[in-house]
Amino acid sequence: MSQYTELSLEHDGPFRTVTLRRPERMNALSRTLLRELGAVFAELSADRDARVVLLTGAGEKAFCAGADLKERQGMTENDVRALLSLYRASFAAIDRCPKPVIAAINGVALGGGFEVALACDLRVAAQGAIVGLPETSLAIIPGAGGTQRLSRLVGPGRAKELILLSKRLTAAEALAQGLVTAVAREGQPVIEAAKELAAPLAHGAPIAYAAAMEAIDLGFEREFDAGLDLEQLCYERTLVSADRREALEAFAQKRKPIYRGE
Ligand code: COA
Repeated sequence: MSQYTELSLEHDGPFRTVTLRRPERMNALSRTLLRELGAVFAELSADRDARVVLLTGAGEKAFCAGADLKERQGMTENDVRALLSLYRASFAAIDRCPKPVIAAINGVALGGGFEVALACDLRVAAQGAIVGLPETSLAIIPGAGGTQRLSRLVGPGRAKELILLSKRLTAAEALAQGLVTAVAREGQPVIEAAKELAAPLAHGAPIAYAAAMEAIDLGFEREFDAGLDLEQLCYERTLVSADRREALEAFAQKRKPIYRGE
């Protein structure tokens, strides 16, 4: 029996799909769901056969409507402070996951719901998806990394525009502004569109992906030379890998490489 009650984890060859399952609350993030998110990404990080992770929401309407505002009503200020630490720890598990993580945004992704998508490496949106960080309209600010991750993704100017104006963007607008990588075709389930994007990653070199993501994520705020030092360290892990030798052999033999993550 699954250890998870508010999300599900599905195995399909090299793909793993995590589905947020609170459709009656638009998949809003309860304490339980946050704890389970942290746990499932720790599990996936250690899963050698997992090559790509997809994160989506149950139902047609919502990817995730953010913080569970009903649960929050009864909370003290200290409860909210503790909850913010839980957000941070759970989203860090997504950040640290060494597999490419793709958010398949099947509907509304607002507040913490968009922040969880921002913690993923890539984002694909359904045609009807709506994304945004409307927290200032609730007299708070994004508190699960949104101010930091959004400004790293699209720059501080655009991040201020989206956050101060509590803008809700359609999928097409999100694509135009670089918030998502792709939008599903008319009538195409977003999970299918995400799998299209994921297909080459499922057969790619896992050590190279992990090293590239670490160099980008951790190098971003370093001084340039320190970033290059980190890149060199990450490169070293690929240099000594069997997959690198396999790439060269496959090239010489004019065949497709078979990468094992070794
Ligand atoms: N927390 C808890 N419950 C939520 C929720 C949230 N963040 N968002 C939606 N729900 C619940 C609603 O209360 C409703 O339950 P009810 O019928 O028992 O009252 C159910 O989900 C459906 O929501 P509803 O508002 O009727 O659907 P809608 O399609 O008209 O609108 C949203 C959907 C997501 C646009 C709207 O619910 C909304 O704006 N939610 C708040 C999102 C938000 O601001 N999040 C950021 C928090 S920082």
